[in-house]
Amino acid sequence: MTISGTTRVLGLFGDPVAHSLSPLLHARFTEQAETDSVYVPFQVTPEDLEQALFALPALNILGVNITVPHKESVFHLLSEHSQIAQTIGAVNTVINQNGQLIGDNTDAFGFLSDIRALFSSLPWEDSSVVVIGAGGAARAVVHALASTNVRKIIIANRTRQKAEELAAEMAPERAEASSLTPEELGPYLDRMGLLVNTTNLGLKGETIPGVDLDRAPAEAAIYDLIYNPPRTPLLEYAASRGLPSANGLGMLVRQGAKSFELWTGHTPEAEPVIEWLKDRLCSTFKQEGSNGGE
Ligand code: ATR
Repeated sequence: MTISGTTRVLGLFGDPVAHSLSPLLHARFTEQAETDSVYVPFQVTPEDLEQALFALPALNILGVNITVPHKESVFHLLSEHSQIAQTIGAVNTVINQNGQLIGDNTDAFGFLSDIRALFSSLPWEDSSVVVIGAGGAARAVVHALASTNVRKIIIANRTRQKAEELAAEMAPERAEASSLTPEELGPYLDRMGLLVNTTNLGLKGETIPGVDLDRAPAEAAIYDLIYNPPRTPLLEYAASRGLPSANGLGMLVRQGAKSFELWTGHTPEAEPVIEWLKDRLCSTFKQEGSNGGE
């Protein structure tokens, strides 16, 4: 890749950013699309966020991804949002449109396109889906699921009240709340077509309380947004039971591909990049944990 006087800058704001895979996957997208662009990680502290964000037009930077811990702060700093960012209440992609900054969110797209690619032959869209967690990542996942025909969305969270609030806000007709107790969650597991972990349980080898996969039907798919480590205890157990399962690496690549498309107009092919990263990650995973929302 050659940087010239015409090269456009794309990037990532986060704190930390050193562990991020986004520069790697965007380098692949740039090669594929042959765009005259470069993707740079910027470590931006919460104190410097506002200044860094509003410097984008002055620096003629085409756009940035936003990751932990800034997704909600950037949402509140910007006055223009896409409909989806508005609904989710968080921004993972900022587009510099001729000096005007627009906050968008590609996490829901990344999640939905990945489960559709992975589990296309399974009946999850005609079943109920169990979502573990009710935080920021769960908002994108529940929003994505609410746009499908799934029968029911059960949001199961340690703090039940947060699950109730999310259900009422995102899908009042189809979503229900549950605690993480076997008594309440168990009967939902018996009938589910898909279970999605959006919490950080599993980053350090934790199991998820109340989730007993022995109850899951044989065709139930298990998706964990965590991709580092590549196999959480949830995914290990799913594999041992022969349940179809996947981690959040595909979601990471697909949300990045959508951001790249929003900035450059080119739609990268996600599959070869997912395969390339899978191979690479087997040997290079570091200690920090990560999930598909970056
Ligand atoms: P993110 O943006 O990654 O979703 P978040 O908004 O802080 O992060 O949400 C974290 C989610 O993980 C929440 O659903 C949280 O449950 P609570 O709402 O009860 O806090 C869940 N979570 C985190 N640690 C947990 C733990 N030890 N046991 C159960 N749930 C946990």
